[in-house]
Amino acid sequence: MSGILSDLSRDALSALAQVTDEAGLAGWHREMLGRKGSLTEALKGLAELDADARRARGRELNALKQELEVAFESRQAAIQSELLDSRLLAESIDVSLPGRKPAVGSLHPITSMIREVSEIFAHLGFQTVEGPEVELAEYSFDMLNIPKDHPARDVWDTIFIDTDQVEITLRPHTSPMQVRTMLQQEPPVRVVVPGRTYRYEAQDATHEWHFHQIEGLAIDRAITMTDLKGTLAEFARQMFGAERKVRFRCDFFPFVEPGVDMSIDCPFCGGRGCRTCKNSGWIELLGAGMVHPNVLANVGYDADAYTGWAFGMGVERLVMLKYNVQDIRQFYGNDLRYSVAVRPGTALTLFLRTIDCGGGVARRSLEE
Ligand code: DAH
Repeated sequence: MSGILSDLSRDALSALAQVTDEAGLAGWHREMLGRKGSLTEALKGLAELDADARRARGRELNALKQELEVAFESRQAAIQSELLDSRLLAESIDVSLPGRKPAVGSLHPITSMIREVSEIFAHLGFQTVEGPEVELAEYSFDMLNIPKDHPARDVWDTIFIDTDQVEITLRPHTSPMQVRTMLQQEPPVRVVVPGRTYRYEAQDATHEWHFHQIEGLAIDRAITMTDLKGTLAEFARQMFGAERKVRFRCDFFPFVEPGVDMSIDCPFCGGRGCRTCKNSGWIELLGAGMVHPNVLANVGYDADAYTGWAFGMGVERLVMLKYNVQDIRQFYGNDLRYSVAVRPGTALTLFLRTIDCGGGVARRSLEE
């Protein structure tokens, strides 16, 4: 190849190597191979040469043209694939990125607590059963050793259904399920009964006109107070921490004898005394006792052969204690954030302090 042509080839190829995009490619093609490009110009010069020289030069120019076209195509392919690569990189979907979680909600704290308690008692051999909320007064009271017109009935501020046939209550406690369970089966009995209960109460931070209880009942041969204490202490420790101390004191409930109340040392101050335990160091958890022989007789059990114990506790109270909920009315305030917050391991206390049941603070923070 003559000097001029090899210069042309070298310059053209090095210019092509500098090109990085489609526009550059088009420009280079125009300058080198276009109608007014360098090669066309060189071809024009052929006419002035004699036949032999023209043939030789023509061959060289053709070879150069082919060389440049091949170089152009391969540069074009390289640039297109680079562009594609960078577009793929920029526009790609990262499939490893987790998707957006749908808001699935959570169980209401009462439901969670009922499940937690039932599970603890299931491991201790207790079955969970449920019963009617609209209950015969006979089961709510009479069969539980609370006779008609006895002042003990007043304790339960009962809501009655308006009927002139049998006396019917919205059950004021879950204890009637003791009766129903025993009427249905022979001993041994080991059940817990979670459920909704109703009382004619003025509402305040610790009282609701409807709330939840969990009843427990164990009947067998030779059951003693020791079984009651051991089982309930184990429950308290599983629920409120292995280091919990328990205290039993005498109390009166017509369906047990003796009757007790059980307290735990305050989980908030470890028993030293604080606002939650009203400086007593103790928090009352439940009522319990040895099932009264009259109750056993009422359901047809042989009170000489069988003994048993029972307990009843408030579910709202358990949640309030465990998660430091300040006001019972929050359970029924329908603030969805509340159910999400009342769970183990959440910064619950802080959150709940911002909810005020009057609606003021809660509504304000919802609007913000
Ligand atoms: N039913 C009682 C109440 O609502 C609680 C209770 C106390 C239940 C002692 C029991 C028990 O089974 O033995 O106040």
